[in-house]
Amino acid sequence: MSLRVGVLASGTGTNLQALLDSVHRREGIEVVAVASNKADARALERARRAGVAAEVFELEAHADREARDDAIGDWLVSLDVGLVVLAGYMQLLMPAFLRAFPQRVINVHPALLPAFPGIGSVERTVEHGVRVAGVTVHFVDDGVDTGPIILQRAVDLPQGADAGAVRRLLQPIEHELLPEAVRLFARGALSLDPANPRRVLIAGR
Ligand code: GRF
Repeated sequence: MSLRVGVLASGTGTNLQALLDSVHRREGIEVVAVASNKADARALERARRAGVAAEVFELEAHADREARDDAIGDWLVSLDVGLVVLAGYMQLLMPAFLRAFPQRVINVHPALLPAFPGIGSVERTVEHGVRVAGVTVHFVDDGVDTGPIILQRAVDLPQGADAGAVRRLLQPIEHELLPEAVRLFARGALSLDPANPRRVLIAGR
């Protein structure tokens, strides 16, 4: 049984590229759809170049956010998507979308959650003067970056690192952690701890 993956991306799509380069059409995983809320997202070009269906779902083309998210959800369901990956998707998803993919939406975030959720996390990391930054991959729930944590990796920050330097440190970590989480999901290795559904259990660890 292969896992059909849908990716939502708003920007340059380097995380999408990491998925295309490392897990796409390997280990029973196939990226079958890339959706963006922005027509000029470079992620769409990357998808098309890889022969993956790419669609734009701009808010302006729909009655409201619910209708837009329903349209994305319907498209992904029509392509039999079993996992939705948010790879730099800069919009919140409506609860109905999440209900359509229960425990099947994951996100990569450039901070060690629960520190610095939401947008501007790298800037806030710098302003706060923390010594350690990092990346989190988590299941998406109704909150902002609040869902159960799948993988995290920390990195020490050199003194005086600005937002650009922090991003350069975090990006390669994102590009490893997100594909790794997709592999674990595809293998059926992820489950929620029945004793505490905030906690993700990883089989074999
Ligand atoms: C990444 O830092 C991701 O964590 C954040 O947005 C950025 C997207 O980068 N949510 P890219 O479009 O994958 O290059």
